[in-house]
Order: sequence, then structure tokens, then C-alpha cells
Amino acid sequence: MKKVGVAILGLGVVGGGTYKMLTEHREFYQQTQEIDIVVENVLERDKQKALALGVQESKIASNIAEICSNPDVDIVIEVMGGVEPARTFVLSALNAGKSVVTSNKELFCKYNHELEKAARKNNCGLFYEASCVGGVPVIRALLDNLQGNKVLSMMGIINGTTNYILTKMTDEGASYEEVLKDAQKLGYAEANPTADVEGYDAAYKLSILSSLAFHTKIPFGKIHREGITKITPADIQYGKQLGYVLKLLAIGKNTEDGIEVRVHPTYIKKSHPLASVNDSYNAVYITGDCVEDVMLYGRGAGAMPTASAIVGDVIYCATHPTFRYSTFKNTAEADPAVKFIDNFKSAYYIRLDAHDKTGVLAKVSSIFSRHNISVAQMIQEDDGKEDGHVPLVFITHMTKEKSVMKAVDDINATSEIAEVVSVIRVVS
Ligand code: NDP
Ligand code: HSE
Repeated sequence: MKKVGVAILGLGVVGGGTYKMLTEHREFYQQTQEIDIVVENVLERDKQKALALGVQESKIASNIAEICSNPDVDIVIEVMGGVEPARTFVLSALNAGKSVVTSNKELFCKYNHELEKAARKNNCGLFYEASCVGGVPVIRALLDNLQGNKVLSMMGIINGTTNYILTKMTDEGASYEEVLKDAQKLGYAEANPTADVEGYDAAYKLSILSSLAFHTKIPFGKIHREGITKITPADIQYGKQLGYVLKLLAIGKNTEDGIEVRVHPTYIKKSHPLASVNDSYNAVYITGDCVEDVMLYGRGAGAMPTASAIVGDVIYCATHPTFRYSTFKNTAEADPAVKFIDNFKSAYYIRLDAHDKTGVLAKVSSIFSRHNISVAQMIQEDDGKEDGHVPLVFITHMTKEKSVMKAVDDINATSEIAEVVSVIRVVS
């Protein structure tokens, strides 16, 4: 039976889950894959973490060089996170002829050109299924099964932490801070949760997924990014009243006018398939020109779902003699011929804090009309009247982003009548 030696860099949430899965399922892989996967080395700052997992002391390496020079290691699994020293360690492994499996979306998004170049040069595998959408096999689907299609669009809930937070805020009225702590305890959040709640994590993933889907490099810097930190319980409640659920969506579209890539809080109609994706579950809704709509759904974060993606890559790497790299020219920057659209079209939720006096609605309507914005739904409530302010909530028809932003500036300039409290895009 073929023996496959692996080394795990980092024994945290994902590394710990991976170690557990590889050791507990060792016989199962021998039977089903006819390979014997053996953890030959681990690298972890905290030796006690390794010992607590049951790793033999002799397998704990003191540095990356030890792993790179170990002839029994075929595949290096990088699950440390962050850019450095992960980048240096992955490059060292590839240059030592080891294939690499990583869950590190930040590293892969920012340096996939460099890592892929090293992998090709050394004829090594470079696998990253776990970097996007946890246990959901979306990368393999894009790289293999959907290759025959021109992917027209993708829309996804691709961050488990923010989906968990928004679900608890929506269903239980829980506070943001309280739920974020839960997400950290459950192992969903990044070491620095700002990456989750400010949309960086989703943007790294969208950069990777849209590059694969649209066959062109989509650098992180091209992605419009907004997080969920400004979302208030009031916005969630008004959305509910209007028939919408609030999600952090990653959206990629490949249109005749160019490519549009964005991550931001978004209202979606309760009837949309993505509306019922809750907790740490994620889903990616892909539309291809031939396949039409495909939705992939599953746990987007957590130790064992992510370990499932890592181990899937290890098995694939061990059982495929040739490797599959990106299906686009993998460079640091975007191809200059590719046009990116920033003035995209969307419907919008606009919440105002309006002074309760005659003529306010007429004034706001005239600003909307000046910017060609037409209103589809509206809520005007009496609450807050004591301090002379009332909330006014609008959902617009499809409008250009820049028109809405100009209207927002104009409304804010008339602060004696109203101020804009929230602007949230809407997918109907
Ligand atoms: P953790 O912080 O739980 O684990 C990282 C581990 O790596 C820690 O044990 C850390 O040790 C160790 N480590 C970091 N730097 C070094 C180093 N220089 N040398 C040795 N050990 C080191 O993170 P996660 O497991 O949650 O995430 C790991 C990666 O997987 C990240 O890239 C993340 O984005 C990605 N990912 C995470 C998912 C999840 O659900 N958590 C899902 C999908 C991807 P110490 O704590 O002692 O510093
Ligand atoms: N922090 C990430 C999330 C982990 O919450 O989705 C999975 O990539």
C-alpha cells in the first residue's frame, strides 16, 4: 500500500481537527483509498497543544527546515493562518518538492501567483479547497465540474462568523458583541475577528472564487468591501417588516460591460434560497450559461467541516499523479484588458432619521427624483416623535450605486430636515 507522509503546520482549530480526522480515519482511508496517510511531523508554537492531541514528542518539529528535509513528508498542510511566516514556510515546502494543502485564504488570495509559480516549477501540488467556504466543495466544483460553463454570476454567504452573528441577531435579538464572543468560542472566527466582521475574510474568498469562475485574476484590491459592524437591530427589524433577511453577501458578476465584485451586507427576499442559510452554514449560488443555477451548501467554518476539505485535498493530491493549477494567467495584478465596474446597479434600503415636520417627504422625494431613484416600498412610523424625529425607510427600484450615493450626500446636506442613518443594498 502506498504510504503518504504529511506534516501539519499549526495545531489550532483547523489543524487540531485535521490531526483528529487523519488519525481516527487512518484505517478507513487504507480501505477506501488504498493509501496509508501518516502524520510524520507537526509544527506548533505550543508543544502542550500537540501533546494534548496525542502527537508523539518525536514528531514535533522545531522548525520548518526539519520538515522540509524529512524525506518521509510528501505533503505539507499549512493551517497556521496569516501571511508571514506562512508564506515563507509554504514556499520552503514547495521548493523542497513537497505538495502543499492550505486553508489560508488571506495568504492564497494575496500570493497565489507566487505560490503557484513555485508549485509549477517544482512539479508539486497546491491545494486550497479549505480556504473558501469551509467544508463546501466549491473550489473543486469550479476547477473541474463547472469548467464547461461560462460562469455568469456567483452570489454567496461565504463567512461563517458573520452569518452566525446575523442569524442570532435576527432570530433571537441577541447583541452583536455577545454573539461575536460565541462565534470565537465555537472556532469560527479568525484570530483577529476584524477580518470577519469587516468583510476582509469574505473578500479574500471572493477574490479566489471569482478568479476561478471568471478565468481572470481578480485581485483583492478590486473588491468593494463593507462589513457588518454598522448594522443595527433596527435595520434587521425594518428589513423583516419589509419581507427581507439581512446577510453578508459576496457577489461576483461577469457581464458584457465588465466584472463586478463586492462584499457587503445585503437584504434578500425571504423566498430566496440564500435567505434560509443560517448559523455557520454557508452557500454559494452559481449561475453558468449552460448549467443554469447551482447552489452548494454546508458548514462554512469550524474544525471538522474544514478538516473535511483539507483531508479531501490530501487524498486528491496523493491519488493524482498530475496537478491542476489555475485556469487563468495567475499574476499579481489584474489583466489590464479586464474592465471592472464600480457603478453597479442594485436596489437599495435607505433609512432616514427625519424631522417630523411638513414637507420633509416632499423634499426627500425631490432629491430621489433628481437622481432618477424610484421608490418601491416605504415605512413611515410615528415612533420617536417625542424628540421631533421619525424614521423613514425606503426600498428603491434598481438604481445605479453612484446615483444613490449622490442622493445620500444631498439628503445629508439638508440636515435640518433629515439625515441618512443606513444604506443597505437589496437583492430581490
Ligand atoms: P487558530 O488560531 O486556531 O490556529 C492556528 C494555529 O497555528 C495555532 O495553534 C497557532 O499557535 C499556530 N501557529 C501560528 N503561527 C505559528 C508559527 N509561526 N509556528 C508554529 N505554529 C504557529 O486558527 P484556525 O485553525 O481557526 O485557522 C487556521 C487557518 O485556517 C487560517 O488561515 C484560517 O483563515 C483558516 N480557516 C479557518 C477556519 C475555521 O473555521 N476556523 C475555516 C476555514 C479556514 P498559537 O495559538 O500557539 O500561536
Ligand atoms: N473565519 C472564517 C469564517 C473561517 O467565519 O467563515 C472559515 O473560513
